[in-house]
Amino acid sequence: MGQQPITFLRQVVALCTYPELLESPHFPADAKERAQRILLYCGGQSLGSYSASQGLNCIRQDVAKYMETRDGGVPAESDNIYITTGASDGITTIMKLLVSGEGRMRTGVMIPIPQYPLYSAAISELGATQINYYLDEENGWALDKNELKRNLSAAREYCNPKVLCIINPGNPTGQVQSRKGIEDVIRFAYEEKLFILADEVYQENIYSEDCKFHSFKKVLYEMGPEYFSTVELVSFHSTSKGYTGECGFRGGYMEVINMDPEVKAQLEKLLSVRLCSPVPGQVAMDVVVNPPKPGEESYELFTLEKMKVLHNLAEKAKLTEDVLNTIPGMHCNPLQGALYAFPRIFVPPKAIEEAETHGMVPDMFYCMKLLEETGICVIPGSGFGQKEGTYHFRMTILLPIEKLKVLLQNVKNFHTRFLRKYT
Ligand SMILES: Cc1ncc(COP(=O)(O)O)c(C=O)c1O
Repeated sequence: MGQQPITFLRQVVALCTYPELLESPHFPADAKERAQRILLYCGGQSLGSYSASQGLNCIRQDVAKYMETRDGGVPAESDNIYITTGASDGITTIMKLLVSGEGRMRTGVMIPIPQYPLYSAAISELGATQINYYLDEENGWALDKNELKRNLSAAREYCNPKVLCIINPGNPTGQVQSRKGIEDVIRFAYEEKLFILADEVYQENIYSEDCKFHSFKKVLYEMGPEYFSTVELVSFHSTSKGYTGECGFRGGYMEVINMDPEVKAQLEKLLSVRLCSPVPGQVAMDVVVNPPKPGEESYELFTLEKMKVLHNLAEKAKLTEDVLNTIPGMHCNPLQGALYAFPRIFVPPKAIEEAETHGMVPDMFYCMKLLEETGICVIPGSGFGQKEGTYHFRMTILLPIEKLKVLLQNVKNFHTRFLRKYT
């Protein structure tokens, strides 16, 4: 999509991969220092060695420091940090650990609807029971504690609900949850003894001036020791999003708190089956949590590149929201964060009938028509889940801005033609 990699990240990974470059005058001293430090922690000082299953020690320490700074001093321990192969690996491993039982005692996992389909796929692979809770579209895709309660009580009739997943900022919905919403969820999890999975991979992707990222960990801490010492929480982060977008490196980490030591021992056993996450991805993760500091040689260029990516994404989020909301029969909630728009679309009854004759759900029919007529590929809302009778699609805001403008104009023209044809 034209987004340029962050130079410092690539330099550190290159230096670790090919240490002869440490002699090269073309690399800055701070990148060399980082690489040398990481290599000291690698077996045989080589990136080609397996690391400890939990990840390289120095990188886990850097993650802990990053979290402490991010959360205004809330303590983080490197022992609770596990370096993963992207966030996906962490999420599926934790689910595997938590799912058990048969029949009515089978583990139930609460997931938001709309959701990122990794969750429904992992639940289905593990044979767990999926418990949907709907995000409140009319209220900017907010979390609604009554909705959580209602669905939990209903699910207790047929499974054993144990896990509550939250994606913040949201994919595909692009909202940033309020502090109050997060507190409500934590209180709910505390009362109902649910294990929280907080997917926070978009924590750096916040665009709206009046929104702030609140980590579950920080809110939990600030709710007091009664909560902070009991609520079981795992949070996930990744190199794939933010301003780095290095999804191919497969870097990530999770922090696990309040897990029973015996369960934690099983987690470590599970993780050791896959030996370790790829060490180059661990190095990329290290740069995300330990970027150049003020006064270091690379600081200026790094800050420039980071700000450029984030400003550009913020501009594209605003443009996308604004243009989509000028289209009659379409409504897009504020794009506060993450990398997507998830507008609601009006599909006329005649189009719904025609979709049926093609054996398609209405939003799939809409997206196929859009693809055929314009070459634009978006994902139907039914792929993420949506309230019955509502239709959406998801698009990313990643395209370069000039192309994005053309794309949005084409979507607008298509939607107008579609409504004219079927109304
Ligand atoms: C909400 C969410 N969680 C997890 C992931 C997976 O990220 P990773 O590449 O770190 O495995 C994605 C990727 O799009 C995502 O949107």
